[in-house]
Amino acid sequence: MVGTATDWDSERRLTAIARRALSVPVRTALAESQIEADTTVLDYGCGRGDDVRALSELGVRVRGWDPVYFPHGERDPSDIVLLTYVLNVIEDSEERDRTLRQAWDLTKRVLIVSTRLDWERRRVVGEEFSDGVLTSRKTFQHLFAVHELRRYVQEITKVRCVSAAPGIIYAFRSDSDRLAYLARRIIPDENWQESHDPTSAVAAIVTFAEQRGRSPKPEEMPAHILDSLGNLKNKELQRLIRAAVDNQQVREGAKRSTLNTLLFLALELFNGRGRFSSLPVAVQFDIRAFFTSYTEACTPVGLLV
Ligand SMILES: C[S@@+](CC[C@H](N)C(=O)[O-])C[C@H]1O[C@@H](n2cnc3c(N)ncnc32)[C@H](O)[C@@H]1O
Repeated sequence: MVGTATDWDSERRLTAIARRALSVPVRTALAESQIEADTTVLDYGCGRGDDVRALSELGVRVRGWDPVYFPHGERDPSDIVLLTYVLNVIEDSEERDRTLRQAWDLTKRVLIVSTRLDWERRRVVGEEFSDGVLTSRKTFQHLFAVHELRRYVQEITKVRCVSAAPGIIYAFRSDSDRLAYLARRIIPDENWQESHDPTSAVAAIVTFAEQRGRSPKPEEMPAHILDSLGNLKNKELQRLIRAAVDNQQVREGAKRSTLNTLLFLALELFNGRGRFSSLPVAVQFDIRAFFTSYTEACTPVGLLV
């Protein structure tokens, strides 16, 4: 059950400010393409609804709910659920847990939790109250430590979470989405050149090979490249690539990809090694190309578990 505004021991409604620009967590989610035009978004505890309005103007299918400002808003399960600066204003720790759980229950793909952090402690003046501070306006703040927030979201959602930025945690419903997100942050997406015929398709593949340090697999190639290649046999394609690539650039690309793979694995293995098949396919291909095995790829960083 959600406590009503009259049950609260603090003036939570006063914590909702009017926003002139999108909040940082929403801007981050847009910049990282978590929120796109076809995603459904629920802003849980949306305050005065400024993020909802701005997202809606961008064409996003967004709804907002807030116990004070939008108590009749719809709370439908959504791809993305935003819980933006809500947990830190709740003085009752059980209600805090419940709120986080409710937001998670409504999440189909990613829950984005953001809170204020303890490095703002000097700016929040007041008396100690519960596990936080009660200001002279009777607003409450529990300022989270960075690691506390991630651990807390993990404890309630029971999934491994990613810190997108200090004070912004992503909890993914599916582990493969989490791994794909991590891989995208470390391993840049290939910018495939447009192709309309076999010659331009081979040129695009040569560029990929030079940047990545290996030839792409068909699973990684966009449809326009595969279509343009037509009936070209793989053996012939490999011969054309070998003849056209700059070997020095391929070696540089391979070094870059090896380091990127190690960095990805170092981050991923921090919480224990998952199955090889659970890794994004592009990372699986990099491991096959640049290491003798998954075990070897995990060994140099000393994180083999
Ligand atoms: C600091 S404001 C943030 C508002 C908005 N998310 C934003 O970033 O502009 C905190 C909001 O949390 C809402 N809130 C308080 N308790 C809540 C609960 N148990 N569940 C959901 N929202 C709650 C308050 O009504 C208030 O609007």
